[in-house]
Amino acid sequence: MISRSELLAAAEAIRAGELVAFPTETVYGLGANALDPEAVARIYEAKGRPASSPLIVHVASVEQARELAADWPDSAQKLAELFWPGPLTLVVHKNPIIPDRLTGGLDTVGLRMPANTIALALIREAGVPLAAPSANRFTELSPTTAQHVRESLGDRVALILDGGPTDVGIESTVLAVSPPCLLRPGSITREQIESVIGPISVDASDQIGRSPGQHARHYQPRTRLVLARANELPAGRGAYLFVSVPGKAAQPIHMPADARAYAQRLYALLHELDAQNLDWIAVEPPPEGSEWDGIRDRLRRASAV
Ligand code: TXA
Ligand code: MG
Repeated sequence: MISRSELLAAAEAIRAGELVAFPTETVYGLGANALDPEAVARIYEAKGRPASSPLIVHVASVEQARELAADWPDSAQKLAELFWPGPLTLVVHKNPIIPDRLTGGLDTVGLRMPANTIALALIREAGVPLAAPSANRFTELSPTTAQHVRESLGDRVALILDGGPTDVGIESTVLAVSPPCLLRPGSITREQIESVIGPISVDASDQIGRSPGQHARHYQPRTRLVLARANELPAGRGAYLFVSVPGKAAQPIHMPADARAYAQRLYALLHELDAQNLDWIAVEPPPEGSEWDGIRDRLRRASAV
């Protein structure tokens, strides 16, 4: 955990337009003052991220989110009341005080209130909302520990707040609010959202351009990652992440059959395996069911060539 003086130094750095990496419940974020276009530009530069890919803005209350939105539909209010603080990003029309640079020129903004005491304390202490993508270089695996951030961006940030390993382990669910469209699956499932706002009728695949920043190749370890059954493992030395049937791999790794536990473990494990110079990392296709949608999505992107 962090000391009071570290928190104050981090808040001061944010107000000065610098970058601070901080923990959330999902993955570590690379934070800057969301209302300062130059600070926002520094995020893109540090990550090597294309300017067209919008950032999520982190807030410490529903009221703060409403101030950053041009309109706040009832459905957004209901979802925020139920799932915030938590791993759900709501995309709504933006208030003009949000710099265009932050949204890649879109007239919408993604807002979320993270369920992490350090993140919330930093937002409150800095007195400004925090723009933050995952604290990794563009296309790489997201960080779930402060050490992952140090390895990827250590020389590019003023400070890294260490809150220990993250709970959820994969990035938030991203929902465009009206019309409702699931732009990125995550640990808050389609069913959970539909139980609050009714059926999500718009398919994200019909919405090319609606969520720039969702690239087919993304979330990738350096080691080649393939989705494979136990009897389809490549030749050479590799690790096999399985839930049901172990394969003949140098390293068979039994993964939790519970989607939440699996997600929490996944990136940390991939970071670890990536350091071992294996020929491949193979992963058994995850089970059916919407609680696995986020994991399935990340593994599909991690294995895309
Ligand atoms: O869990 C998370 O969401 C983490 C933590 C740090 O909060 N953040 C994260 O940010 O994963 P990032 O930048 O790696 O992914 C954000 C994605 C963008 O790539 C884009 O697909 C979507 O969220 N997004 C953000 N703003 C959007 C907008 N206005 N319209 C559509 N999609 C948006
Ligand atoms: Mg990311």
